[in-house]
Amino acid sequence: MIQGLKDKVVIVTGAGHGIGRAYSRGFADAGARVAVTDIDGPAAEKVASEISGKAEGRAISARVDVADEASTKQMAKTVLDRFGRIDILVNNAAIFATIPMNRGGIETIDPAEWDRMMAVNLKGLFFCCRAVLPTMRAQKSGKIVNIASGTVLSGSLGRIHYVTSKAGVIGFTRTLAREVGGDNIQVNCIAPGSTLSEDNPTEEILRMRQAPVQGRSLKRVQKPEDLVGAMLFLCSPLSDFMTGQTVSIDGGQNFL
Ligand SMILES: NC(=O)c1ccc[n+]([C@@H]2O[C@H](COP(=O)([O-])OP(=O)(O)OC[C@H]3O[C@@H](n4cnc5c(N)ncnc54)[C@H](O)[C@@H]3O)[C@@H](O)[C@H]2O)c1
Repeated sequence: MIQGLKDKVVIVTGAGHGIGRAYSRGFADAGARVAVTDIDGPAAEKVASEISGKAEGRAISARVDVADEASTKQMAKTVLDRFGRIDILVNNAAIFATIPMNRGGIETIDPAEWDRMMAVNLKGLFFCCRAVLPTMRAQKSGKIVNIASGTVLSGSLGRIHYVTSKAGVIGFTRTLAREVGGDNIQVNCIAPGSTLSEDNPTEEILRMRQAPVQGRSLKRVQKPEDLVGAMLFLCSPLSDFMTGQTVSIDGGQNFL
């Protein structure tokens, strides 16, 4: 088990489903205290109570819309009131699978969907970081992990609004790393490959997740659990001198 995360206070956004749920379980298993947050409040509550069922007091949940600054400030306040500090922020929430997106070509994307994509996937990071930074700066420590996507590295046929938003996450990571390094805060990024994160995948989704396997060095479907080790490493003291980096976790598809 990875060392150094015991009793750390972690916020995971978009943690009610998919990969965010796997990160939350991984943090709790490593001994951290986890705020499971999602725009889907009941889903976040379910994940938190599952964690608390194994280790009482280890998790809380909150309904948070990352695109709403007041909601992100309330998130930070709730966590501070409950746990007294904020050590780690994982900016995982996005419009992706649970809230579906148009995966078609540029002509088919509604400008309103473009705007909402940027509001959640990019402005959401901006709001969540601003909500926790006063605490992390005062502590003179903190770790932020943002989530980009392998689609940025390879390009993607369709869903240009999603890929553009995730490309922004990498620039955001590098710039914030420079801004907050003086306060001993590390900011890194994970770019996951296509991951079977859907709760009840249809045959079509299973085919879609199978498709990248041939282009990978490691020939199998990627699961949410495949991302957890890298996440815990980036949030542990083992990565204390690493910041501004994007790590590609995709079974060896894209090489940075
Ligand atoms: N699964 C993949 O193939 C894949 C690949 C690359 C990157 N990613 C990224 O990984 C992260 C997790 O993806 P996932 O596959 O688990 O998808 P997902 O859709 O299940 O997870 C996203 C979560 O964010 C929540 N969310 C959406 N809008 C929100 C908002 N405004 N405020 C708060 N929460 C909100 C959703 O309810 C959901 O729980 C996302 O950032 C996604 O872009 C996923």
